[in-house]
Amino acid sequence: MQTLAIVGAQWGDEGKGKITDLLGAKCSLVVRYQGGNNAGHTIIVGDKKIVLHLIPSGILHKNTLSLVGHGVVFDPKAFIEELNKVRGSGVEVTPNNLKVSQNCTVITSYNKLLDGAREGHGTKIGTTGRGIGPAYEDKVGRRAIKLKDLLDKNILMAKLQENLKEKEILFTHLFKVKFPTVEEEAQNLFELGKLVAPFLTDTFGIIDSALQAGKKILYEGAQGILLDVDYGTYPYVTSSNTSTGGIYTGAGLPGGHIGEVLSITKAYTPRVGEGRFPTEHMGDVGEKIRKIGSEFGATTGRPRRCGWLDLPLLKYSIKVGNITSLALTKLDILSGFESLQICTGYEVDGKIIDCSYPGLDLSKVKPIFKDLKPFNDDFSGGKLSSELMSYIELIESELKIPVGILAFGPEREQIVFRKDYF
Ligand code: GDP
Ligand code: IMO
Ligand code: MG
Repeated sequence: MQTLAIVGAQWGDEGKGKITDLLGAKCSLVVRYQGGNNAGHTIIVGDKKIVLHLIPSGILHKNTLSLVGHGVVFDPKAFIEELNKVRGSGVEVTPNNLKVSQNCTVITSYNKLLDGAREGHGTKIGTTGRGIGPAYEDKVGRRAIKLKDLLDKNILMAKLQENLKEKEILFTHLFKVKFPTVEEEAQNLFELGKLVAPFLTDTFGIIDSALQAGKKILYEGAQGILLDVDYGTYPYVTSSNTSTGGIYTGAGLPGGHIGEVLSITKAYTPRVGEGRFPTEHMGDVGEKIRKIGSEFGATTGRPRRCGWLDLPLLKYSIKVGNITSLALTKLDILSGFESLQICTGYEVDGKIIDCSYPGLDLSKVKPIFKDLKPFNDDFSGGKLSSELMSYIELIESELKIPVGILAFGPEREQIVFRKDYF
């Protein structure tokens, strides 16, 4: 296998950072292709906790080159802050092991102001407030600032002038927020551009050459398939194609073949932000998962809403992302629970369905739960209890793909590979 995609199968925070770090060690390239610093990918090594937002999760490995593809929306200020923080934890990050596409869309101060202001007007999405949606709007509106524009102040000024034209009216008359002048914004971005410049290059060309040389590539998705702007639970989604399809538009895969699509899935369902989710448990179980599982967002610190695993949604994600195997994370959190349930279907308008489908109104479905014998494993001896095996086997038989990885703790060693990747 030469290429592997890692995608989240739920609403994000499934543990993609941990698995990318582990499998990225075996690859020449680890590539981000969408999203921005709304992502928060956690890697734990010994007593160090590294949370990556823009920098790919292959960065800890000496022989792996990390790439940020052109589909990523890039906040240069957040990048420099992250760079300093990651370097401060002893990780080497240089233009030799990290390269960023010069065609990434820049997240400007205007985008961040708009994100915040829109959350207070109309439908509240519960965004991360990082300016992601407004930056993607600028991209498809063909008025975005690209990273390469930061290198020439005259071009930057002219583009910002154009970019601000309509926003100025919104800021002044609708949202009534203060905003930086074009001169201030240009100066700020120009200075940041000087710091980002050494990392800029043509990442598509690097991917193309690596594939031709037979090198191994891991594509690291951010968010999860249910947050995809086209396939997700619209409008409560992010603004990019988080699914496997985003690889083709956001970084490139000349030759077109993905060897394996590994989806990361928590052993239960978490969600942060707004939007209905059928298995959300508003009582003791949801509270217990949140507490024991420390379910608070890695980017914003917001509490995550929690509930049992939802197989109809996973079946949908598997179809959308062409997923070929699953990593089941956070099994340790469910260990020792007095009860264990799994959602195997929904009742909708008097009918039973076992797979969610596009456009299904999740506020109208009634989840059907199956009771399982709870498991109580300490994962120390490598042997899994028959109760835990029954949980895994039920998931495999319902989803019809293998559970290739079991994770039972945040650290690198807390993992069992049931299948070979690379
Ligand atoms: P990502 O966005 O998909 O990379 O996931 P996050 O980093 O936002 O959230 C996953 C959280 O779970 C992080 O704090 C990880 O350190 C932690 N984690 C990952 N796998 C496991 C696991 O199997 N067990 C436990 N207890 N924690 C895990
Ligand atoms: P990782 O990569 C979980 C959610 C936000 C909100 C919606 C839109 O760490 O899994 P946005 O700021 O993108 O416009 O917010 O998407 N969201 C995430 N939830 N994990 C993430 O990333 C997320 N990135 C965005 O909470 O509901
Ligand atoms: Mg996260």
